[in-house]
Amino acid sequence: MLLVLSLASGTLSAQKVNVDKAFAAAEKQTIVLLKEIENDTAAIRKNQVSPRTVEHGKLTMVSSRDWTSGFFPAELWFLYAHSKDQKWLDLARKYTEKIKREQFNTATHDLGFMIYCPFGNGYRLTGDTAYRNVIIQAAKSLSTRFNPVAGVIKSWDHNTSKWKYPVIIDNMMNLELLFEATKLSGDSSFYKIAVAHANTTMKNHFRPDFSSWHVLDYDTATGKVLQKLTAQGYNNASSWARGQAWALYGYTMCYRETKNPVYLAQARGIANLILTHPSIPKDGIPYWDYNDPKIPNVSRDASAAAITASALYELNTYVPGAGYKNKADKLLYSLHTAYTSKPGANKGFILEHSTGHRPAHSEIDVPINYADYYYLEALLRSK
Ligand code: GLY
Repeated sequence: MLLVLSLASGTLSAQKVNVDKAFAAAEKQTIVLLKEIENDTAAIRKNQVSPRTVEHGKLTMVSSRDWTSGFFPAELWFLYAHSKDQKWLDLARKYTEKIKREQFNTATHDLGFMIYCPFGNGYRLTGDTAYRNVIIQAAKSLSTRFNPVAGVIKSWDHNTSKWKYPVIIDNMMNLELLFEATKLSGDSSFYKIAVAHANTTMKNHFRPDFSSWHVLDYDTATGKVLQKLTAQGYNNASSWARGQAWALYGYTMCYRETKNPVYLAQARGIANLILTHPSIPKDGIPYWDYNDPKIPNVSRDASAAAITASALYELNTYVPGAGYKNKADKLLYSLHTAYTSKPGANKGFILEHSTGHRPAHSEIDVPINYADYYYLEALLRSK
């Protein structure tokens, strides 16, 4: 018999999401979204191939160059992984193909999201060697952004008046592409870059409580950190919710790939920060920034919770018995019961209540593709 304790109790909640039902709902939503995409003739004319969000009731489609372009095709792979239905396989292949050209993009650090999410899942599920080749080429493109003096990959080329060599905590997520490319190609240079980036980031990007700055600016002549800033958070001293989630996921993944215990310790420290922070509300879904003084009257970020839930399921496999699975179950249950779209609503996106870029007044309290992606991944991992 399942013991049901309240979410507020701080002890265990045995409330579990029915994964099959959650996927059935996600499939229905995705069918709605696919219709929206097909009917968006303006987006088709502009070669906008992937749905990103809904703002003010309008679907935002993006081109393959957008950092979020890979999430929707990757969601289609998850629907196929769960259902084994040929229909989802065909759709996953079709939408993955639309992102392929980005394997040659050297102007962004986001190739992990853009390429590894769809092509990595596609390769895992089909063994298609064409997908493997795209992953290896994307790793080569990403590697061009590594500076050996600073020991990190450059995140952004924009806003050159604000910083010289910006590195954002989100960049940890793109290392998975590099680790995989070494396994697929036998070329250890990708692995070495990933490890260097993870080590430099661990040294510089974290405060003593394991919270992280969003943006660090490096001097590439000396490797010194010039500035510690935010772009998407409340202020330079604050903890932007999604950044903490990227850090947790990133170091958990680095431990998987290297088995270096320092990464596991880092992941556990970050997990502890996220799971015990006083600003986290009872349902576990964080406000967009832990330090916004207007809490509780500010938007949540369901995407941060989805990323965290997925990471905690993996962390649990390395430290079984530490309670991470129960915490992940609670988050997933909250997302499933209170943050999913009503059937047919939100143009077919699965989750609502994410915050994209509050300082830019953009994507506040909206559905967003990466929230849906990590929610589906967490559902699969929960099994
Ligand atoms: N990588 C950008 C974000 O998390 O919004």
